[in-house]
Amino acid sequence: MEINELKERIAALKAEKNAVILAHNYQRAEVQDVADFVGDSLELSQQAAKTNAEVIVFCGVHFMAETAAIICPEKKVLLPDLAAGCRMADMVTPEDLEAVKQQFPQALVVCYVNSSAAVKAVSDVCCTSANAVRVVEALGDQEILFIPDQYLGEYVREVTGKQVILWPGFCPTHVAIRREEILKLKALYPDAPVVVHPECPREVRELADAVLSTGGICRYAREKDFETLIVGTEVGILHRLRKENPGKRFIPASKKAVCPNMKRITLEKIVRALETLQPEVIVPEEIRLKAHRALERMFVLTG
Ligand code: 13P
Ligand code: SF4
Repeated sequence: MEINELKERIAALKAEKNAVILAHNYQRAEVQDVADFVGDSLELSQQAAKTNAEVIVFCGVHFMAETAAIICPEKKVLLPDLAAGCRMADMVTPEDLEAVKQQFPQALVVCYVNSSAAVKAVSDVCCTSANAVRVVEALGDQEILFIPDQYLGEYVREVTGKQVILWPGFCPTHVAIRREEILKLKALYPDAPVVVHPECPREVRELADAVLSTGGICRYAREKDFETLIVGTEVGILHRLRKENPGKRFIPASKKAVCPNMKRITLEKIVRALETLQPEVIVPEEIRLKAHRALERMFVLTG
C-alpha cells in the first residue's frame, strides 16, 4: 500500500475500532503524522489515562505501552511491534533490584519510568525525565536509590543536592551524543542555544543551556527566541520541532542518536494492529496493582 492509502486505512480502522493513536516524540515522521497525540513519556501516560477510546495503539517502546496498560486496565493497549523494547529498561531486573535493596534498606527506590512493570512493582515511586527532580525533592531528606539511568540519577543529585545512590544503567542512544561534536556545532553556530535530554552524560549536559525532557524541548522551541537550536536527543524529535516551528532551524547534536527500537513501529504495523487488535500488552494483575502504586505516588507527589 502507498503511504496515503495506509493513512486512509488507519483513519477508517480507528473510527471502526474506537481507537486512539499515541506516539512518542521519537517516532518516525509518518507515524507522528497519523497520531492523535504526540508527546513525552509523562504526557503520553496522562493522555492514556484520559482517553475515552476503547483501544490505545501505542507507538513507542514496550515500557511506555505497559505504563498505559497499568494505568488503564479497562482498555486494550496495542504495541504494533512487541520487539520494540528499551535497552536501558533491560539494564535492571526485579531480582537484581531486590538484591541491591538489601544493601541499602534505608533508601527509597525511585524508578525511572523506562523500566519494566515488574521492576516498577518492587519500587517505591516512579518518575519520568519531566518530573524526576520534583519527585525526588518531594521525598524530603530520605536517601534515594535511583534506577536504572545513572545519568538522569546524577542530574537529579546535582540539582537537588540529595543523597542519591546510582544504578549503572544508561541509554545507548544518548551516550552516542559527544561533547566534541557539540563544541564543533557551537563554533559553527555561536548564537545557537543547546538543549539536551537528561539521559546525556554529564560532560554533554555541562554544555547545555537547558536540560529537558522531550516534551520540555518542544516547549522550549515554541517559547524561546532563537534562530538555530542545537538539539541533544534522539533525532526523531526533529520532525515535530520543524513542523511546529517553520521559521526556526534545528540541528541534531549527533546524527548517530537514533533509537532503533523506536523506529520499529511503521504504518504497516499500525494497520495490522488495528485490523487484528494484536499484539496486546498485558500486565499480570498482581504486578499491575503494585506497579500502579509506584506510578500513583508519582502523580500524587507532583500534583
Ligand atoms: P521523554 O519522557 O523525555 O520523552 O524520554 C523518554 C525516553 O525514552 C528518552 O530516551
Ligand atoms: Fe530507551 Fe534510549 Fe530508546 Fe529512550 S532512546 S527508548 S531510553 S533506548
